[in-house]
Amino acid sequence: MLYFFLGLLLLTASPSSLIPQPVSADETGGVYICKGDISYKLRGSADGSAGLETYLQEGLPAMKKAASKADVVICFNRKIAPGTYRMSIRPKGISIEAADVKGAFYAIQSLQQLRMQSDEISCCEIEDYPRYQWRGFMLDLVSTWHDMDYIKREIDAMALCKMNVLHLHLSDTHAWRLESKFCPALHEKTSWRYGVSGEDWKVNRLFAPVGAPGATGGYYTQDEIRSLVEYAALRQIEIIPEIDLPGHAYALLHACPEFRCDSYEEKAAGTLPSYIVEICIGHPEVFDFIFGILDEVARLFPSKYIHIGGDEAKMSAWKTCSRCRDLMRREGMTDVRELQYYFTKKVAAHLLSIGKIPVGWDEIASDPELDKDAVVMKWHTACRLPESNKVVMATHNYTYLCYYQDAPVFEKMEAWSRYLPLDGAYLWEPMAEPGMENFPEDNILGIESCIWSSHFPDDKSMDYMTWPRLAATAERAWSPASVREYDSFKTRVMTFSGILGRMGIDSFDISKEYGHRPEKISGASHLGAGCSVSSDSRLSSSFPAAGLMSLTDGKCGDWNGDDGAWLGFEGEMDVTVDLGSEQAIHFAGATFLCHKGYSRDLPERLEVSFSQDGSEWSGPVSTLCQADTRGIRCVYPLLSVQGSWKARYVRFRAVRRSGPQTWPLLVDELIIL
Ligand code: ACM
Ligand code: ZN
Repeated sequence: MLYFFLGLLLLTASPSSLIPQPVSADETGGVYICKGDISYKLRGSADGSAGLETYLQEGLPAMKKAASKADVVICFNRKIAPGTYRMSIRPKGISIEAADVKGAFYAIQSLQQLRMQSDEISCCEIEDYPRYQWRGFMLDLVSTWHDMDYIKREIDAMALCKMNVLHLHLSDTHAWRLESKFCPALHEKTSWRYGVSGEDWKVNRLFAPVGAPGATGGYYTQDEIRSLVEYAALRQIEIIPEIDLPGHAYALLHACPEFRCDSYEEKAAGTLPSYIVEICIGHPEVFDFIFGILDEVARLFPSKYIHIGGDEAKMSAWKTCSRCRDLMRREGMTDVRELQYYFTKKVAAHLLSIGKIPVGWDEIASDPELDKDAVVMKWHTACRLPESNKVVMATHNYTYLCYYQDAPVFEKMEAWSRYLPLDGAYLWEPMAEPGMENFPEDNILGIESCIWSSHFPDDKSMDYMTWPRLAATAERAWSPASVREYDSFKTRVMTFSGILGRMGIDSFDISKEYGHRPEKISGASHLGAGCSVSSDSRLSSSFPAAGLMSLTDGKCGDWNGDDGAWLGFEGEMDVTVDLGSEQAIHFAGATFLCHKGYSRDLPERLEVSFSQDGSEWSGPVSTLCQADTRGIRCVYPLLSVQGSWKARYVRFRAVRRSGPQTWPLLVDELIIL
């Protein structure tokens, strides 16, 4: 039997076309039977092979070093490409060949996946290697506190999926999580707080002294970090720390208020301080301070990369800060954005001078003079990507695991507002994203999924959100672009979730998925399908769909408002459908979307009028929208009228509720029956 081994796991026999360079298939139907512990032997050595021995003895259950004859022989062969492995499973034993420890490690993970399913492993030959060199997972450890045991469990699961980068988000608005000997106030004053989750904390934004009664939190000591780095390294995972600057610095500025802009205003008692705050770029000591922090981080994390954040700096305090204004004058800057460029340039130059490569969210790439060595992490759907920089693709709509993974109308736990199901994560192809047409693929280092933890107060909820979607990212990162058989992946992932369960990780149960909006799947067939639509109403440029015709194209929207099926109207919607000839009509309706991420407005009522000739109208017949939008996550009300009419033209008018209309009205299809 021939297995194809993807980054994630191989649990079924599969078409050989999907196998990276299959060597040969075993036609004998033979099996290798694991009897208890598997013994192994390393033949030869490679850089880090002592670490591999340690991992095999201490990091893997049921593996033991062979005294004489081994079940598994691992042989280093320099003729094989780095990171690649060949594995041959025969009834009498298993042999692994790899150029290096990484390749051998990935072979062992493939073997682990097989034996965690069954003690009988079908014989096969495998040759396998990763698509991308960066197969990452970003854990936000700031918004909500998670301990070392949790992180180690995630590392074990990542290793099984052959992921190799763990990006730890360690500083942000809500806390500072890293012990700092350079500036102890950072962790001492902001790692504990009132409010378990980031969302709870936002209500009062109060930090607490370490261990204060009624408070929660924690920070990672430097010893813990060193041991975590070692733990990850044994599993071929590199930890990349992120210190998010110059924005998202609320916690830092709580600990070190001297680095606030001089225009920063403490709010009057009873009101909350401004939530996202930047450090003062014009402060004369700010770079000594930041370099001191980064030097300490650089000593703790051996990775050649340090992530410096760079996202979402609001820059508002910079505009009126006398120090920032002075700096702008001295440097001939005309726009506050140049302060961020200036900051990134200095920080990047410093990191490069100490042998580290800066990584930043894609906002750093808005500087046309960004250092060519900096790595850009793309998270926006559309953004400028400099073609000569290396890029990691973490485009939020395909990779953020804090989005709902099942129908947001039914999910019990709050999450970020979008819907990102397993198939959305799996079917993503980074090179097929709009704007990537001319981007050199060689400059894509890899891909990464991110979980922002502000809604998830405990390990259980983190696991539920992370898995199995992270396995989809792992497979995208490992397997060639041509591998995208979602049904096969879904079947394999169900088995993989069982394996995760045995590791103490309870993932979302994909077999119980509700899935996409049923109307999206079924579409709508009705009298108006394909008919022309006319209107003078103002359309929203943010929700253009396919223009007015998308109201009668038979395609209904999914749970997300920006999926190209929902059409936005800036004011009221007043549209007329021409059925082409007179028709008997019993029903006319439209579905609207109210969703905290896209539009929080619904119409007050829908009025429908009918005409034979387009000049004489009967009606309107009106229906009120009863949906309550206060505090809701999302609702998709269908407003309709029912009766008996004969008409060629049907006019739909959605009358807006009174008050400011800050949101567009979103409609997917006008249904006439
Ligand atoms: C981000 O989501 N602010 C990188
Ligand atoms: Zn300032």
